[in-house]
Amino acid sequence: MRRKLAAGNWKMNGLAASLAEVEALAKAHPAPRSEVLLCPPATLLAQMAWKAKGGPVMVGGQDCHPEASGAHTGDIAAAMLKDAGASHVILGHSERRADHGETDALVRAKAEAAHAAGLVAVICLGETEAQRDAGTTLDVIGAQLRGSVPDGATAANTVIAYEPVWAIGTGRTPTLAQIAEVHDFLRAELAKRLADAAGVRLLYGGSVKPSNAADIFATSNVDGALVGGASLKAADFGAILAALDSA
Ligand code: 13P
Repeated sequence: MRRKLAAGNWKMNGLAASLAEVEALAKAHPAPRSEVLLCPPATLLAQMAWKAKGGPVMVGGQDCHPEASGAHTGDIAAAMLKDAGASHVILGHSERRADHGETDALVRAKAEAAHAAGLVAVICLGETEAQRDAGTTLDVIGAQLRGSVPDGATAANTVIAYEPVWAIGTGRTPTLAQIAEVHDFLRAELAKRLADAAGVRLLYGGSVKPSNAADIFATSNVDGALVGGASLKAADFGAILAALDSA
């Protein structure tokens, strides 16, 4: 009942020439069973949305400001992302939490802004290695979920991505049992707050690649992936999408 979602986060990578990857992806996978989302840097968003028009690939931003407009030099409002062709926006990525001091309250405000603009918020959560070693993973994830997800969240306007900080860009992944533990916990916690919690997509992110995708996608309550490095090349991301389609 939950449509799977393969999401790519290009982070601060990609120039105009990289848009060829979108065309290659759409050509190789013209009608995937899963939803497909690519989140390029803001500079490429409008061009990518234009290239992806009419095909299977949806386009998203990587951040937005909590306010609708105003004097915030360098920031981007949710309505601007929507206007440029985005349907989604990634919020609360651990790199933004670390690099820009984003708090749960700020992420929640951004998610409210995204919802008001008609965007799906892809809200990211995840423990650090020190927190996992200390045995506090579920406490950390639970607090981030309560703090970052607004009351107006629904299965239609919100996706949750579990991304352990220590698994991002490191080639290391949690065990499948560790992923299942967190995803089952997220589902149960969401059910305490949201009427349609059973329909909310839960993505895993952190060193997902073609070689580990099928195992991760067979794990309890994993409805797709948020992919960083392996989303930059259509061949790799396409292989991950194919694994999701056959999961
Ligand atoms: P990697 O897939 O490069 O580990 O990045 C994951 C991520 O942070 C996606 O948002």
